[in-house]
Amino acid sequence: MKNSPNPSIDVRDLNHPPVERAETIPSDWYIKDEFHHADREAVLSRNWQCVGHVSRVPNPGDAYPIIVAGNPVLILRDDENRICAYYNVCRHRGGPLMANAGSARFLKCLYHGWTYRLDGSLRGVPHFNGAELFDKSDFGLKSIRCQVRSGLIWINLSDDLNSELDDIIAGIETRIRDVEIENFKFAGEVTYDVKANWKVYVDNYLEGYHIPHVHPELCDLLSFQDYKTECHEWYSLQYSPFRKQESIYSDGSGQSCYYFVYPNSMLNILPGRMQLNRVEPVSAGKCKVIFEYYYDDISSPAARKKYQEDMAYSDKVQQEDIEICERVQEGLGSKVYDRGRFSPELEEAVHHFQGCLKKSYLRYFNEQ
Ligand code: FES
Ligand SMILES: [Fe+2]
Repeated sequence: MKNSPNPSIDVRDLNHPPVERAETIPSDWYIKDEFHHADREAVLSRNWQCVGHVSRVPNPGDAYPIIVAGNPVLILRDDENRICAYYNVCRHRGGPLMANAGSARFLKCLYHGWTYRLDGSLRGVPHFNGAELFDKSDFGLKSIRCQVRSGLIWINLSDDLNSELDDIIAGIETRIRDVEIENFKFAGEVTYDVKANWKVYVDNYLEGYHIPHVHPELCDLLSFQDYKTECHEWYSLQYSPFRKQESIYSDGSGQSCYYFVYPNSMLNILPGRMQLNRVEPVSAGKCKVIFEYYYDDISSPAARKKYQEDMAYSDKVQQEDIEICERVQEGLGSKVYDRGRFSPELEEAVHHFQGCLKKSYLRYFNEQ
């Protein structure tokens, strides 16, 4: 990660022809370690990621730890009711401040007990008499750029911001205003370990082409023929009306909207329900996918039953996706595969994602 050599890229591979003529990205980009390092540095550390919703931290002092581009991060609500993000890394010897979601008046390192205020400043340093040239004000937690939009929490690890969040997600808030996601409540999260490169998982998310083959039951609920894709500069939207009058997803009205915000945030918004997925690369051949579930109501017994069914169903679909992504990773690593082509009808969003990736690589390598 730190000081890793840049991967060798043929500059011709950074061209991005239209979907009708383009080839998919080379298989090396999915399987080689140097691309894993480049992805963390050039892509995931430099772009906005959606890391949750304000309902996860309803009161001052509420916090939860996550991993972002390989870095321990803490999301919290401070004494002034602001949502903030810090590296979950103690300035003493790198210990964690929190291992699990919880609530605290101040943060206490789990290693030797240094304490920090909710504004990140260092508060208490036990057994440090005799330390010279040590000023506590130099040892506050490192903060991370953090913004909230429609209740969603976004962070960007880069100090050198080259993109404004509002420019990246322009148009999404207006389009989903009626769903009122800012009032949704957190119902739970599940983390899946996937033996595939994070880009395999994203590619798969971005097309409905595989639905009839990999998810025959889901295909029955969604109106596959009416599946539509819209590509914007840094995000894409797939949407489809429901086919059945009534189903696990709907009372027959409304739509399912699947937003992908480059590079790794997925917002699945359905009537009264939102699922956030975030893909975190672990190594060239492994990623974690974090699913967070939010609903307009989580308190009544009927609502609880509904969301438990919803989560169970979603788990089934996810297992189907994991299975196929893991087999695809093996195929990409085989001797015979290098690159393929896109269906202009059904893989426009995959093509769009791969174009964004090329833009990130180009910008990063030009700076080196
Ligand atoms: S690493 Fe945090 S107190 Fe030592
Ligand atoms: Fe799928």
